[in-house]
Amino acid sequence: MVVAPYPSGRFRRVRRTRALRRLVRESALSVDDLIWPVFVRDGQDDETPVPAMPGVSRLTVDRLVKAAREAADTGIPAICLFPCIDSSLKTEQCEEAWNPDNLANRATRAVKDAVPEIAVMTDVALDPYNINGHDGIVRDGEIVNDESVDALVRMAVAQAEAGADILGPSDMMDGRIGAMRQALEAAGHKSTCILSYSAKYASAFYGPFRDAVGASGLLVGDKRTYQLDIGNSDEALRLIERDLAEGADMVMVKPGMPYLDICRRASDAFGAPVFAYQVSGEYAMIKAAAGNGWVDGDRVMMESLAAFKRAGCAGTLTYFAMDVARALAQ
Ligand code: PBG
Repeated sequence: MVVAPYPSGRFRRVRRTRALRRLVRESALSVDDLIWPVFVRDGQDDETPVPAMPGVSRLTVDRLVKAAREAADTGIPAICLFPCIDSSLKTEQCEEAWNPDNLANRATRAVKDAVPEIAVMTDVALDPYNINGHDGIVRDGEIVNDESVDALVRMAVAQAEAGADILGPSDMMDGRIGAMRQALEAAGHKSTCILSYSAKYASAFYGPFRDAVGASGLLVGDKRTYQLDIGNSDEALRLIERDLAEGADMVMVKPGMPYLDICRRASDAFGAPVFAYQVSGEYAMIKAAAGNGWVDGDRVMMESLAAFKRAGCAGTLTYFAMDVARALAQ
């Protein structure tokens, strides 16, 4: 890098006007970068607000379809579905997870029928269906890996069958990407994308989400035996490399803003699309501060998303997606 000494070099010259600043901006957020996570519940023409996430509700499938239509019309390329499952359907073996007619699969089909142009992403993890709130099957107090992978593979194939464009394995079991990819190929789902939650940390920022899907009360213990330790960075890169080698098309770092260093390292290290998940707790913090008048909510929202682009991400999953898309359209 060449830097002319002052006064030949004056960095402020290109910051003087908005036009000059726009010309030299290195990265810019676009509506193409947004994946919108949406919570789905059973019922008809109704919705239930999520307490710690102002502006976010669990939608019945018909309202979800309307929301997907609006998102597509605003230019958002993808939505990500998270079902809130009735507690009567939760079991130890999580059988509801691969029921072709479960809430998530019905929601996928409804959206793909009505709004075919929007990409539907789904979540592959057992927690919505698990009596103990874990992402894998629990046996004698242990989250058992290989049996969980078998269940996750059945779940993934059922989601592909329902028409999901992108599967999002968020479970953090070992070997699941390779097993899913093989099963998808064998079942003829050769074009189904996998966006692996490769570097998913054992984070306290998921609190509001667990409330939203009704998993918090149930969770026995914590997820530290399968989610990534918050002190690790090299391990995140090894996990991403492993998942790409097993057949993931895209990878994710989660949470987002506290892990921007991982986003940057991952996008530098691999030529693959890296996504960040700006999770429920990050959304809740911004909303709470904005609601109190402590920060300018709209500007902080846009700045938080610009950070992911600057860190090299191909895109971001964010509960702000509709607000950002509208702001960008202005
Ligand atoms: C569960 C899952 C979680 C999130 C997405 N999928 C929570 C968890 O791992 O406990 C978190 C999303 C958020 O906090 O917004 N498989």
